[in-house]
Amino acid sequence: MSERLILTLAILGGTGKVGPGLAYRWASAGYHVIIGSRTPEKAERVAAEVNERLGRDVVRSMANEEAVQSCDIAVLTVPYEAHTSILEALKDHLQGKVLVDTTVPLVPPKEGQVQMPSAGSAAQEAQEILGDGVDVVAAFQNVSHIHLLEDRPVPCDVLVCGDSEEARKQALTLVAAAKLVGWDAGPLQNAVVVEGLTSILIGINQRYKVKAAGIRITGEPVENRADPE
Ligand SMILES: NC(=O)c1ccc[n+]([C@@H]2O[C@H](COP(=O)([O-])OP(=O)(O)OC[C@H]3O[C@@H](n4cnc5c(N)ncnc54)[C@H](OP(=O)(O)O)[C@@H]3O)[C@@H](O)[C@H]2O)c1
Repeated sequence: MSERLILTLAILGGTGKVGPGLAYRWASAGYHVIIGSRTPEKAERVAAEVNERLGRDVVRSMANEEAVQSCDIAVLTVPYEAHTSILEALKDHLQGKVLVDTTVPLVPPKEGQVQMPSAGSAAQEAQEILGDGVDVVAAFQNVSHIHLLEDRPVPCDVLVCGDSEEARKQALTLVAAAKLVGWDAGPLQNAVVVEGLTSILIGINQRYKVKAAGIRITGEPVENRADPE
């Protein structure tokens, strides 16, 4: 990281289940990481927990709006019910940036049932709300937070969808930095399958008493599988 620009990543709603694991992994890889929240004190507490785990005081905390303004790439980790409202609130600040959207359009209580929004997927909904000035990329939907918090190779691959090839590349770099195997899964409209797959994985968890089911891409080229197992 030392010879190139170190990017700043803002994890919006980073105080929940997914945010801390990603923050720990990206800070470990040398990125500047900001935990964003509606409540700065909550962000501060979670950032302190991540820093304690890192053994370094490097992860910062901010209100979501300030975090977006301070970042190069934003990562959205909020429940689907908060998706539209947070995007509308942050729309202006996100212009010109890449937004990595982890959202799965789960509809309680039937989280194990695929229920996609009329836009096709949560990521397409985000793109519609934000407009062409933001490059939305869908990623991390199929990885349980349980694995992200573990200090070992994650037994789940990450499918990355987005209409901008450059933004997909940037997201794939972040996936690799988080020590996961990522695959370019094509345009944003393909996020319908990736997001829908999460409901199938949740159903498998419930029916088979699996802790955190995931997916793996098999076949050639095997050199894509760079994880140290
Ligand atoms: N959990 C998993 O294993 C997993 C795996 C893959 C993908 N996902 C997807 O990733 C996203 C995040 O999952 P998560 O489990 O981390 O979510 P979460 O823990 O339920 O919530 C994350 C954060 O979202 C913020 N939030 C909640 N309601 C909000 C609202 N109305 N407006 C604005 N912010 C709100 C909260 O932050 P503040 O209170 O600090 O603002 C909360 O800490 C979800 O869409 C989920 O489907 C989850």
